[in-house]
Amino acid sequence: MSIASDAKQALQGAVQGVMAKAVALAPDSWIPGGEPDPLIRERYGHIGKPLSRIDGPLKVAGRATFAAEFPLEDMVYASLVFSTIAKGRIAAMDTSHAETAPGVVAVMDHRNAPRLAPPPVFMSAPKAANGDNLPIMQESEVNWNGEPVAVVLAETQEQADHAASLVRVTFEAAPALTSLDEAREQGTKPALFMGQPLHDERGDAEAALAAAEVKVDALYTTPRHNHNAIELHGVTVAWQGDVLRIHDASQLVAHTAWSIGQMFDMPEDKVIVTSPFVGGGFGGKCLWQHQVLAALAAKLCSRPVRLVLSREGVYRVVGGRSPTEQRVALGADREGHLKALVHTGVTVKTASNAMPEPFILPTRSAYASETLKLDVQVVELDMLANTFMRAPGESVGTFALESAMDELAEALNIDPVELRIRNEPEKDPSSGLPFSSRHIVEAWRTGAARFGWDRRDPRPGLRREGEWLVGMGCATGTYPYYRMGGGAARITLMQDGQAVVDIAAHEMGMGTATAQTQVAAERLGLPIEAVRFNYGDSTLPGVVLAGGSQQTAAIGASVGAAHRELVKQLLKLAGNDSPLAGLKPDDVISRDQGLCKADETARHESYASILSRAQQPSVSVEAEGPPPLETMHWSMHSHAAMFCEVRVNTVTGEPRVSRFLGSFDCGRILNPKTATSQFRGGIIMGLGLALMEEAQFDERKGRVMNPSLSEYHVPVHMDVPEIDVIWTDIPDPHAPMGARGIGEIGITGTAAAVANAVYNATGKRVRDLPLTLDKLL
Ligand code: MOS
Repeated sequence: MSIASDAKQALQGAVQGVMAKAVALAPDSWIPGGEPDPLIRERYGHIGKPLSRIDGPLKVAGRATFAAEFPLEDMVYASLVFSTIAKGRIAAMDTSHAETAPGVVAVMDHRNAPRLAPPPVFMSAPKAANGDNLPIMQESEVNWNGEPVAVVLAETQEQADHAASLVRVTFEAAPALTSLDEAREQGTKPALFMGQPLHDERGDAEAALAAAEVKVDALYTTPRHNHNAIELHGVTVAWQGDVLRIHDASQLVAHTAWSIGQMFDMPEDKVIVTSPFVGGGFGGKCLWQHQVLAALAAKLCSRPVRLVLSREGVYRVVGGRSPTEQRVALGADREGHLKALVHTGVTVKTASNAMPEPFILPTRSAYASETLKLDVQVVELDMLANTFMRAPGESVGTFALESAMDELAEALNIDPVELRIRNEPEKDPSSGLPFSSRHIVEAWRTGAARFGWDRRDPRPGLRREGEWLVGMGCATGTYPYYRMGGGAARITLMQDGQAVVDIAAHEMGMGTATAQTQVAAERLGLPIEAVRFNYGDSTLPGVVLAGGSQQTAAIGASVGAAHRELVKQLLKLAGNDSPLAGLKPDDVISRDQGLCKADETARHESYASILSRAQQPSVSVEAEGPPPLETMHWSMHSHAAMFCEVRVNTVTGEPRVSRFLGSFDCGRILNPKTATSQFRGGIIMGLGLALMEEAQFDERKGRVMNPSLSEYHVPVHMDVPEIDVIWTDIPDPHAPMGARGIGEIGITGTAAAVANAVYNATGKRVRDLPLTLDKLL
């Protein structure tokens, strides 16, 4: 079994909760225990510089080739036909008109699709790397409203789309459960997330709540959300001899190759998945049915296939965020110290996946409450499997929790910033672990000063400008630090001083390629121009998933490990005639295009000199990052203090966000330019969550009724004010490079900051997202 396979098995183990059993392993490396990453202490030549995106010129010039843009010889275009019932079976299918339509090459359905092995176990599904463990076009059963039931293949996309409209399907509907309320009557069950219960209790929170001097207790609801990355999910696939080549838009190339290999009963190295550019991922660009259908179709017609989901297709095939109903109850003494914190509620999923929206996650480590009760219940509906969507859990969980904190602040007549600071915990309230680095108070203080929080009148509804009511609100954003195992890197150093770093990682537009080139150059003591970072290809080393805001840590730890290995190899090659002679790898760092003794930098030899004396044109090493044990020793979380100013029109009820500030504490910021974009992008997605995003799910039919960007609204330029972003830049001593991930935190806390500002402006407390104007009239 390859290193990569081992790592994938280990990752699954982690997901199943095996790793989560606290293994008290000796902290034997800088990451889990001992010394901080040398890059925290070293000079910052590259890290921290606002380097512009290295892939920017390619993208601006239109020369970055996305998954659906690879031209393959003799390629056919695919179009999907979707089921229109939530449950039942296909009773009859007439494809004859489609088959004789102009340009049609083949029509694939469950009767003629090549046979597939069951999908393997992974992540959000008990048995699949796609959204669920259901068979893919293998049988007549229908499992959700919108499930693909036929694939039409034609010489052009237009011909395929036209012919798809000619496929006639007769469905035989079976009773389906598509209503949350009906399902709840039949009973809920405890939710499991990554194999772990979403349940925590400390003390008797309900009794403490009943006895509290001041309390708030309310229900908050959030709707379904769909993924709407600007790049549609697309794939171009070809069977080339015994190799299946997949040009995908992916945040997990290695996992995709591994999963598809098992489904097609092929060695995983015969499945090559590449994804050099992705036009937005957010948790949605994983393995769904469309990649597998394209591979099946290419096999059926023996030609390369391009399958791009239409915007409607994304809503039918790619799951999103499920709805939540959350109760948050807070009890406090008159000084605002929390005595009780209750956060419970219900969400939905399907029977065939394992992704209940884990909305209590942000509450676990939020506040120093004497008692705590957290619980997520779930019901199972007949619908498309839901999945990860930017900060699953934290995004909607912070809406409820941080709205409730605002309600408590008002009940206590304490400033909401002050209330939060007053409840800062000394250690993690749920796990009891010490925090690795927590500077949220500093983020609050600097954010409040910069935003002009002292100009806020706590009495709602009093600041009026013409027909607009103006208000300010704030909320805490938070997202954990994660690092998954299996990250590996290969570094190849050439005698001319150029280096190549190879990792099966991903650039989804967030700046990975740029920031990681900086990190590698820093580790290697090389100029930026001397480093080439290759990624987005499943044949490269490592199993790095761009998710959970953990890719930066996973890559950083792998590059750190490979660098240590490189130092070892170079010291061997340097031998006894080098100024480095006799030094141990631990004493040596990279600097000025060579190695030197860490505390005696004059003892230096260049890479070129070492390699030429050893008569080696290059040296190549590959290593895996240390196991991700740091989160067993420390509670590791990023935080943000979010400030919002909103204007609500007294005539129309229209809410407009007029100012926003995010003050972040996320460890060291590797590249301020790409980081600012990440933070802003997260906040903008949070504005959509607050004000407009809602998938209209018809509970009679289990069908999403607004599968388009004309009816499902996301923020456009006019909805987005100037967003100010600042950060503490305090390195986390237990994270590689001192950096915690920043991909998801921007969406957290944002909706509550908006809702709290709307309350301050109008005196109306909206507890149901999205916060549309009808709720403010
Ligand atoms: Mo993210 S929802 O882990 O891409």
